[in-house]
Amino acid sequence: MPDDHSKLVPLLPIPNRTVKRLCADDSAGSRVKVGHRQALTAQKTPVRYDWGFLLWDNNKSSLLADPRVLTMQLQDILYSQGFGTRRVCAGLIQQGWVSVREASSPNAEYALCTEATAGYEPEGLLLRVQGVDWPFHAKAYVLLHKPAGTECSQKPSTYPSIYTLLPPPLRQRPTKSAVQGVQAVGRLDQDTTGMLLLSDDGQFIHRLSSPKKHVPKVYQVTTKHPVDETQVSKLLAGVVLDDDPKPVRAANCSIVDSHRLDMTLTEGKYHQVKRMIAAVGNRVDGLHRSRIGRMDLPADLAPGQWRWLNASDLALLNSSA
Ligand code: URA
Repeated sequence: MPDDHSKLVPLLPIPNRTVKRLCADDSAGSRVKVGHRQALTAQKTPVRYDWGFLLWDNNKSSLLADPRVLTMQLQDILYSQGFGTRRVCAGLIQQGWVSVREASSPNAEYALCTEATAGYEPEGLLLRVQGVDWPFHAKAYVLLHKPAGTECSQKPSTYPSIYTLLPPPLRQRPTKSAVQGVQAVGRLDQDTTGMLLLSDDGQFIHRLSSPKKHVPKVYQVTTKHPVDETQVSKLLAGVVLDDDPKPVRAANCSIVDSHRLDMTLTEGKYHQVKRMIAAVGNRVDGLHRSRIGRMDLPADLAPGQWRWLNASDLALLNSSA
């Protein structure tokens, strides 16, 4: 939020289909379509404006909604978090399965709410749904320690999907795209373990997975045959893979012990580590991704476990791309 609140203009109930773009010094009274208004909200979730303020930011030439005065109906909040259709969410609330704790009263206990249309400010809201605590997240950013023997596909062919390791709301969150829920940022092979990011924020996924962004990923490679300096030099100089005459090279590569290498890649070609290691006459026996950008896989996250990325994780990752 910009801190210059002098340009905030109060709006009395905002019409359902249009929103008035009002500001102290620019085009008072002109209209913006609802779709446009939604695109302008930070969360891109179906926010309902009951009473509010809008701010026209001349520097960015965009409308900003003041999150202090945005409320959403509880059924919509639950829906945005992936707890089912609006009807299912309304049912959960009416049946007494939902309690809430508001950001404005952090010391308060959770309070039962049975009114599906009750309005809450979603930012900072803590939900308790059927006994499970669920902090509101406008966008989902999660980290999974991928175990071996899982596929990064929604429709796996042989092994269980990594998505089965996530709770249903993360898989059911409504999105604007054809696929519901969070998506993996790139893929790891079924036998590869380690750090996997998932999100429903398309820009975040693109920033961290696009080869053009050169985000470094560190792999701990266990090899079948002993590793040596000749192999390392070749990996650093670049090797040619079968699908592209342009050589690919490791951004970093160092010997850890007789059968272990640490290797950093900045692209994400299919089976890239395995094919590069094969190109220097060796073979991968085990592969673990330990770092993405400036963030390490936390030591306390066991294989198969997931957790939300916090603000400092996101700052590290976003400063890597
Ligand atoms: N390179 C591979 O060969 N496999 C992976 O899973 C990741 C990178």
